[in-house]
Amino acid sequence: MTTSQKTALITGANKGIGKETARGLAALGITVLIGARNAERGEAATEELRAGGADVRFVPLDVTDETSVQAAAQHIDATFGRLDILVNNAAISAGPQKPGETPAAAVRQVYETNVFGVIAVTHAMLPLLRRSAAARIVNMSSELGSLTHLADPGSPWSGYSSILLPYCTSKSALNAITVLYANELRAEGILVNAVSPGYCATDLNRHTGIRTAEEGAAVAVDLATAGEDGPTGAFLAEDGPIPW
Ligand SMILES: NC(=O)c1ccc[n+]([C@@H]2O[C@H](COP(=O)([O-])OP(=O)(O)OC[C@H]3O[C@@H](n4cnc5c(N)ncnc54)[C@H](OP(=O)(O)O)[C@@H]3O)[C@@H](O)[C@H]2O)c1
Repeated sequence: MTTSQKTALITGANKGIGKETARGLAALGITVLIGARNAERGEAATEELRAGGADVRFVPLDVTDETSVQAAAQHIDATFGRLDILVNNAAISAGPQKPGETPAAAVRQVYETNVFGVIAVTHAMLPLLRRSAAARIVNMSSELGSLTHLADPGSPWSGYSSILLPYCTSKSALNAITVLYANELRAEGILVNAVSPGYCATDLNRHTGIRTAEEGAAVAVDLATAGEDGPTGAFLAEDGPIPW
């Protein structure tokens, strides 16, 4: 491997939008690490993506398990010495349930993956990202995390937001986290953005989405490979900024 060869880690990359983001980055010649909590599913996705000759490798990674996160960071350090791209993609949802009927335990469970998982992985990978000449962090958010949308009862998302408190607010938190990382890392040239893939048919929504996972992955691939003049601290969909 040459020192110019880029390496990307994608969490929850064994299926859905994460897998398609992996496919897109691998197609650009980037070495892609498939982070997956289940070895069988991770290996299967890795084999599938390797089929075209891409450099795709499985890395065991449960974002809610600090031991697993540390082991992944140590493995990447020992194998590559640095990380160029981190895509925080893994997420879960809960419900549907009205906000007033949602117990704290349901919210806590979703935050373990969607919020604390992102912080744990980013914290562990940051020393490796800092060794890259042009590190990029992409946080897979959602329009359902937009406070502007949540505050608008006429928005197209209001039907979902009224029954998905854990998921929606986890993505609002993720957006805030994105801005704070971006602010801290701007001076170091590390670009950090939140993206929304749009409503894609995946297991997360029992395939009710109207876009393909591949279409959803495109914006993540774009931001993961943005040039040094690319945005940071932004919340972006394929067709431009999303209101916070
Ligand atoms: N689909 C949409 O319409 C849509 C819209 C907006 C935003 N998003 C966001 O896009 C991202 C991908 O979602 P998706 O639709 O592709 O969902 P998905 O098909 O359900 O995939 C989610 C991925 O996250 C993994 N995961 C869950 N918990 C994990 C953990 N603790 N550690 C590691 N991996 C874990 C899953 O692994 P397992 O296979 O082991 O469960 C799976 O690989 C998420 O951040 C989601 O919020 C999706």
